[in-house]
Amino acid sequence: MKIVVARLDEFGPGERRIVEAGRRSIGVFRVGDDFYAINNYCPHMGGPLCRGRTKPWVTSQGPGEYTTAGEDALLACPWHGWEYDLATGQSFLGPGEPSVRTYSVSVEGGQEPPVAEPRGGRQPGPYVAETFPVHVEDAYVVVDTNPRPAAVPAARGGAQ
Ligand code: FES
Repeated sequence: MKIVVARLDEFGPGERRIVEAGRRSIGVFRVGDDFYAINNYCPHMGGPLCRGRTKPWVTSQGPGEYTTAGEDALLACPWHGWEYDLATGQSFLGPGEPSVRTYSVSVEGGQEPPVAEPRGGRQPGPYVAETFPVHVEDAYVVVDTNPRPAAVPAARGGAQ
């Protein structure tokens, strides 16, 4: 199953979206021009991981000295601060703890939804309910549960 998260031009660097996929909650992060997706569940105690702060990798050469590397690709859980690599889900606290599941993210071409025309003096609203084609086959009325192309008008009752 693929889920559309956002339009690319509406998802800027440093932003995140949290999407629901069935019973899963997944955080999608844009770090620079890279995208990462990670399960919104901290394996430590079940915290809402994807609501935490992102930060760069920090390395220390000794007391009082540190350097940061790269962009904010480390995610800290908001409950107890465990940190996870956005790319792999690996924790760097709690040795032996499992990593967080990560997902692949792609940028794919899309189409603008068709613009509905005013009808009977009414302006189209913001919502479109899913509809299905209906046709008669040898005295059986059949509904096709596959989504139909958006530009096809709904069939209006009765036989053909
Ligand atoms: S629940 Fe995430 S660090 Fe404890």
